[in-house]
Amino acid sequence: MTDPTADTGRGTGRDIGRDIEQGVERGAEPPYAIEARGLGKSYGDPAVRVLDSVDLRVERGTVFALLGPNGAGKTTCVRVLATLTTADAGVARVAGYDVVAERAAVRRAISLTGQFAAVDETQTGEENLRMTARLTGLSRAAARRRAEELLVRFDLTDAARRLVRTYSGGMRRRLDLAAGLVGSPEPGVFFLDEPTTGLDPRSRRQLWQVVRELAGRGATVLLTTQYLEEADRLADRIALLHQGRIAAEGTAGALKSRVAGHRLDLVLTSRQGYLRLAGRAVHHSPETLTLGLPTDGSAAHVRALLDEIDPDGTEIDRFSLHSATLDDVFLALTSEVPAHV
Ligand SMILES: Nc1ncnc2c1ncn2[C@@H]1O[C@H](COP(=O)(O)OP(=O)(O)O)[C@@H](O)[C@H]1O
Ligand SMILES: [Mg+2]
Repeated sequence: MTDPTADTGRGTGRDIGRDIEQGVERGAEPPYAIEARGLGKSYGDPAVRVLDSVDLRVERGTVFALLGPNGAGKTTCVRVLATLTTADAGVARVAGYDVVAERAAVRRAISLTGQFAAVDETQTGEENLRMTARLTGLSRAAARRRAEELLVRFDLTDAARRLVRTYSGGMRRRLDLAAGLVGSPEPGVFFLDEPTTGLDPRSRRQLWQVVRELAGRGATVLLTTQYLEEADRLADRIALLHQGRIAAEGTAGALKSRVAGHRLDLVLTSRQGYLRLAGRAVHHSPETLTLGLPTDGSAAHVRALLDEIDPDGTEIDRFSLHSATLDDVFLALTSEVPAHV
């Protein structure tokens, strides 16, 4: 007889959680590049709690997305982890170092986009990278090689000889990342705070490619985003940050299995029909008699829903199918219930 709760012996079968608790004491290399426990931060008077007991664990060499709407606390969390501000409560270690007691070591181990205001707008991308490389102590020839390599890697060769002033937002962000890599030993820990917000779709895809490339080399990436799709495409694990708390954490697949993935929006022909169905809906728009119902988006499920809801074909005026939005995920995973009617 087998005990279903017994360790199945996958891999070494070791208890990673226990190793973390004991790892530092035992002198073992901690498996987490980023580890935070109970982070709290308040601002203002009266105090507004911006981070409320945030726990995070990011394994080395993985991409982790902190997903949340404006004001959720994403930037504050990144600033605490990147040592730009201190938390009021909790502890955090990045690359094995305490973010308060070992701030300098953390700073050497990380790269933070946007930090490199040192990028000179009146120089070309190539000049910027060479100069940064020289400043880190590389010889002229080595600096040229390093700049060349990074320009290729970040898809900036065509723009290498143009002034940074003329760069698009996406190019500028890629140059920031490249500049952050010039002198740092790789792989490291990258904090990318909303790296694609405001970028056009093509620049966004290029940046995604850069993130994948960093992760492919063994770097750890923590990025923040407001876009579910971005987290879905890039991240090994996602944490949903909602009003300063982690509302859910897991792989994209695990999180999506907690929401329906798609939404079938129905425009009802009558208010009675609207009211009858409102309780099942995850989206409500009483002015237009529109309700959104969760679905997996398959033809079979959509057809079954329509048949079930409207067997006589009189109650539904129109319908449309959408991918679940970040709002849908938040509504499903937080206790907030939208006003019905
Ligand atoms: N320095 C600050 N002083 C006062 N309030 C702040 C400060 N920084 C952030 N906040 C507030 O904290 C909340 C979370 O902000 P932030 O971490 O920037 O969220 P996000 O990056 O998810 O949009 C917001 O309500 C914001 O106004
Ligand atoms: Mg922010």
